[in-house]
Amino acid sequence: MARAVLALAAILALVASSCPAVSLAHRQKRQPPILARGLSLDFYRQSCPRAESIVRDFIKDAVRKDIGLAAGLLRLHFHDCFVQGCDASVLLVGSATGPQDQMGEQRAPPNLRLRPSAIRAISDIRDRLERECRGAVVSCSDILALAARDSVVVSGGPDYEVPLGRRDSPRFATMQDVIAGLPAPSSTVPALLAVLNKINLDATDLVAISGAHTVGLSPCSSFEDRLYPRQDPNMNPPFAARLRQICPAKGVNRSTVLDVSTPNAFDNRYYVNLVNREGLFVSDQDLFTNPATRPIVTRFARSQREFFEQYGVSVAKMGQINVLTGSRGQVRRNCSVRNPGTV
Ligand code: HEM
Ligand SMILES: *[C@@H]1O[C@H](CO)[C@@H](O)[C@H](O)[C@H]1NC(C)=O
Ligand SMILES: *[C@@H]1O[C@H](CO)[C@@H](O)[C@H](O)[C@H]1NC(C)=O
Repeated sequence: MARAVLALAAILALVASSCPAVSLAHRQKRQPPILARGLSLDFYRQSCPRAESIVRDFIKDAVRKDIGLAAGLLRLHFHDCFVQGCDASVLLVGSATGPQDQMGEQRAPPNLRLRPSAIRAISDIRDRLERECRGAVVSCSDILALAARDSVVVSGGPDYEVPLGRRDSPRFATMQDVIAGLPAPSSTVPALLAVLNKINLDATDLVAISGAHTVGLSPCSSFEDRLYPRQDPNMNPPFAARLRQICPAKGVNRSTVLDVSTPNAFDNRYYVNLVNREGLFVSDQDLFTNPATRPIVTRFARSQREFFEQYGVSVAKMGQINVLTGSRGQVRRNCSVRNPGTV
């Protein structure tokens, strides 16, 4: 009898950890662990009560038509928050030519392959929200945080609360700030942690938010140094052989999926891949190689539920890096340009 109960419990635990619908049905939406001053969970309750459902509906539709948009929006939110804070500065377009400090973040090397569809989606959502609640009520940085959350949800990942009330910066960061803020894919754990610690994220946050690499694509250029001239010993040889077919030499302009087992689903397979030494970037695989982060990787590989819970916590932290609130910054009328009359 006791044994039967144990077996049943084991089966239930297995089902719960492998099936998000079951594990989340009984759970409250994950509450943010911290709330930056000026942010709140019901910021638009008076001024734009349908804001969240408008974003959710848009993302549902748009991701159904283009699955890659989910990855594009996740990455855009990350590239916004890690550079100068979550202030939508990444969306500002600078001058196409002229001095580097007037070129805009999108022209910095780490941002060259942000998906145009993701940038367009934020602007389209803003237009819809403007029709619903006139007068520049909802900020571009809040739209981006919500769109990233909803992209996760529609891809099968966890739902979590997004604190709102961010305001947009009228200024973009310099090229150097973008490069310093966004680690290269060749980075190992100490270098990654050096960047994250500066913005108050820790090793658990690093492992959890890197889990966003469960969706999306990468060009060969970001991992070809692991194949040529010689193979990275931390890469599983059959996996390396497959990658060499996709990228037959250095400098080939092609892409492949970040999560080799379930490329479009937001799940914990990314961590299972790392345990199998099938991570695409050094910055992915080193999370398993380095003893400081390895136990976190194995925990998330074993339990999708634990990954989902931590993702909500860590991405909520990421989403509150250096936010502008209150009367700081502005609510942009056009997400790609600062409001007229501001400097
Ligand atoms: C921790 C250090 C990280 C590094 C070094 C890194 C690096 C990269 C690189 C090199 C790519 C390939 C895209 C390209 O080169 O054009 C990529 C793609 C991607 N990254 Fe990261 N990333 C990191 C963290 C994150 C985080 C925190 C998120 C989100 C929470 C994220 C989300 C994504 C997504 C979704 C894609 C696929 C984009 C698409 O298909 O358009 N990454 N990342
Ligand atoms: C790589 O190929 C894509 C189309 O597949 C093209 O749009 C892009 O311009 C190419 N990039 C380079 C550097 O040749
Ligand atoms: C927003 O600004 C950009 C850049 O100047 C422009 O191309 C675009 O048409 C503007 N969008 C709207 C809705 O006015």
